[in-house]
Amino acid sequence: MFSWFLCCLLSFGFSAHALELRWDWSTINPTQVHFSSDFLWGAAVSEYQVSGAHHCDHSNWALWESKAAHQSGKACDHWATMDETIEALKKIGVKAFRFSVEWSMLEPHEGDWRDDVLQKYYDFLQKLNNAGIKAFVTLHHFTHPEWFERKKAFEKAENNRYFVNFAKKVIKKLHPLVHKWCTINEPGIYVFQGYVRGVFPPGKTNLFLAGTVLENLLKAHVQLYLEIKKLEIGKHVELGIVHNILQFDAYHDNIIEKALCDRLNAIINDAVIGFFEKGVFEWRALPGMGYKKHSYPAAQHTLDFIGLNYYAHVLINWKHPSRESYRKDDIKTDMPYALYAEGLYRAIQTISVLKVPIYITENGIADAQDDRRELWIQRYTYALHKAIQDGYDVRGFFYWSLMDNFEWDEGYRMRFGLYEVDFQTGKKTLRQGSHYFVNLVAQTYKKSLFSWW
Ligand code: GCO
Repeated sequence: MFSWFLCCLLSFGFSAHALELRWDWSTINPTQVHFSSDFLWGAAVSEYQVSGAHHCDHSNWALWESKAAHQSGKACDHWATMDETIEALKKIGVKAFRFSVEWSMLEPHEGDWRDDVLQKYYDFLQKLNNAGIKAFVTLHHFTHPEWFERKKAFEKAENNRYFVNFAKKVIKKLHPLVHKWCTINEPGIYVFQGYVRGVFPPGKTNLFLAGTVLENLLKAHVQLYLEIKKLEIGKHVELGIVHNILQFDAYHDNIIEKALCDRLNAIINDAVIGFFEKGVFEWRALPGMGYKKHSYPAAQHTLDFIGLNYYAHVLINWKHPSRESYRKDDIKTDMPYALYAEGLYRAIQTISVLKVPIYITENGIADAQDDRRELWIQRYTYALHKAIQDGYDVRGFFYWSLMDNFEWDEGYRMRFGLYEVDFQTGKKTLRQGSHYFVNLVAQTYKKSLFSWW
């Protein structure tokens, strides 16, 4: 049985595994960094996570929550307090904000288009622009209308049309006020959580279907990109996709663990990167089964930029499989992964094969005690700085998240915010551990004030 398993694993194809980069932090001062004044510092949220099922009550997630362990309620009540969000951004001095528009609010029932909701986004964007804050708008951040879910969402290629039509309507109205569009947030994670682990809607565990959904999501990006670029406004609209790199390393120096890492990496990371790099979608569900390889040459030219989300270093431990995996001296976060800033550097290297400008569209720590946030920010911005110095074209960094919010299947336990949110009163308080970030932003832009001297 064991040898059969080993053969299958290896028959997936096994290539030399990248070294687990480790820097000697005792010799590094991570605060010695200088960012140029045109570097874009920002903060990020998604509509559902800050407005909750209360405001997004026609969404797939609201439907899911009716049976789930955690309920989002009003979350930060962002939809009712958008001016406060702008004040919170102004206070920390960032020049960019990434947020998502909620399809389920804009089209709660099929064809029932809500112009008042679109206008509210327009007014919000106008205020952001007036405050000198550039908007990065995500069109699909894990949520969509319940009616679209009932049609089986991205399980069916013909459903892509609904998404593309929705996105085109939004882009046509809002594009003069939007700096960049993120079409789809983390297609790999959407599929992994919703179709492999089954902890996000629709709660399925089917590796074959997972491949189909991933392929359709990537195709939806391409369809939207090509249709927008055909329009007169196309040359003013910049679109990219947001990819999360989950970094897998073998816990031991062991061929099974290395082969497993290789496979997980192929499914979760390379399927997305390869699609845009080579114009090929490749998916292998199980050994000898469910293999797909389809060619999409047009995909190679459909990224004006790439959004990179990076959080997690996952150690595969064959002997003691567990959701949490750490090396002996690792500093833990509240999520089941460690503080490992070298991973951001590696992720930037990996994504750079796409040869388009890179924006770190999410990076941050869940730290309810606020006793590791400052160190996280110092080390990850150090890794970012090093990548830029080494020639990687990274143009911006968005801290996740501007404020504590609803962390999907983890509920409210995970506190990612620069601002702590009191969910009873709605009060937002800037955390002590966020000050380093605020000062770094201030230093970066202060220079620009005097650059003409
Ligand atoms: C994701 C998302 C965010 C998360 C964040 C922290 O990766 O799941 O884009 O919605 O809240 O990454 O886990």
